[in-house]
Amino acid sequence: EQNENQPQPLKGKRILITAGPTKESVDVVRYFTNHSSGKMGYALAQEAKKLGASVTLVSGPVQLDPVPGVEVVQVTTADEMYEAVIDRFEEQDMVIKAAAVADYRPKDAINQKLKKKDGPLVLELERTKDILKTLGEKKDHQYLVGFAAETNDLIHYGRQKLEKKNLDAIVVNDIGNQHIGFQSDENEVHVLTRSGQEKALPLGSKQDIANQLFEIFIEDMMGETN
Ligand code: CTP
Ligand code: CA
Repeated sequence: EQNENQPQPLKGKRILITAGPTKESVDVVRYFTNHSSGKMGYALAQEAKKLGASVTLVSGPVQLDPVPGVEVVQVTTADEMYEAVIDRFEEQDMVIKAAAVADYRPKDAINQKLKKKDGPLVLELERTKDILKTLGEKKDHQYLVGFAAETNDLIHYGRQKLEKKNLDAIVVNDIGNQHIGFQSDENEVHVLTRSGQEKALPLGSKQDIANQLFEIFIEDMMGETN
């Protein structure tokens, strides 16, 4: 439901958000994935919608309810996410890459069931394409936000990723923090912007964090165009 008193600073803006993990096949019955729940990305989509944006959510496999009023594009692999995001990039005003994309996939996915043998199994993995880095190279008018999952030297690695991928802002997750598991409804993050801001958002619900993040992005985005 739309609250009439809710200010809509993102009215007329298109925002694409990616969420959740990707899943890469090893054989017909097995796959590689990661612990992402998708909750942060879905919370961002809900918040963007509330703020008046036209929202597209490119989602990996998650156990979450769809967000009302938000277009969802379901993907499974990093490659599918790449295609879905690149195809829609040009018309976006903002892209937020909250998804936990696989960095590697099995080089030759086997279209049968792999049978066990004596001794160890060696699987060759190859790199996936870096979606965010590609967006950073392509971007002209878009405000581009990345996420970073780090266990140590958060700010240092966050700043490095922001520069390397040509981002406007990066949200750094401390995945070494024992209080906030991957499935948690809460999060605690650091936000770094290209314009030099550095903010710590203390522990709060992912919805609340999403709300505060948009406040920062919107202010930063407006500042850039003035
Ligand atoms: N990302 C992406 N495509 C990939 C890998 C990552 O778009 N193939 C994006 C993620 O969605 C995230 C950001 O890049 O917004 C940072 O992801 P992260 O895993 O923290 O960093 P990497 O660059 O993959 O480096 P590393 O995992 O080695 O720390
Ligand atoms: Ca990675």
